[in-house]
Amino acid sequence: MITLALSKGRIFEETLPLLRAAGIEVLDDPEKSRKLILDTNQPDVRVLVVRATDVPTYVQFGGADMGITGKDTLLEHGSDWGGAGNGAGLYQPLDLDIAKCRISVAVRADFDYASAVRQGSRLKVATKYVAIAREFFANKGVHVDLIKLYGSMELAPLVGMADAIVDLVSTGNTLKANRLVEVEHIMDISSRLVLNQAALKLKREPMRKIIDAFASAVGKV
Ligand code: PRP
Repeated sequence: MITLALSKGRIFEETLPLLRAAGIEVLDDPEKSRKLILDTNQPDVRVLVVRATDVPTYVQFGGADMGITGKDTLLEHGSDWGGAGNGAGLYQPLDLDIAKCRISVAVRADFDYASAVRQGSRLKVATKYVAIAREFFANKGVHVDLIKLYGSMELAPLVGMADAIVDLVSTGNTLKANRLVEVEHIMDISSRLVLNQAALKLKREPMRKIIDAFASAVGKV
């Protein structure tokens, strides 16, 4: 049995064509079903529906053999597990080039970010990406007080709780709708395939087949 951990929403949607390329059809729609383990047309392949931030954890601890998760999530997970790098020993064979977006710093349109930075002001920054934000501002030599949030970061500058946010930007519509402007582009993000290393040793053949099908579907072979 091969178990793949996926999160609902954009990553799930954009993974379906890759699974199809590997001959795998998921038989339930996670938006409609309450099931957390989804069957596929392959009796020996199943999909776990987990929170996006939990995908690396399921793969790291062997709850899933493989998973698909954003670079943002991997970087934050790696820092929780003491690794400076990407995702604490998870094997990452492939950038799938899906769910592409960026991590940016955004502020209220009436906040003069450039002069606050120039003057060496201490900034209050709200984010769910604490590790990424800490490293970015440390490299820039800007002192920050980080406020951890779990979603709707855009609210924090609007209610005066933070000067800036660090968040994912895709179309930019959420920022625009909340009158925020992007002032720094921290990094580009896409989703990666991650593997449990012990599973790869035990189930090398069937896992290789899926990895190779994904690789050729994203044009990387
Ligand atoms: C992400 C992000 C922004 C939004 C950006 O939120 O946190 O709020 O998408 O997309 P846009 O630039 O296309 O408007 P998501 O919907 O993933 O939910 P979240 O609040 O749980 O992060």
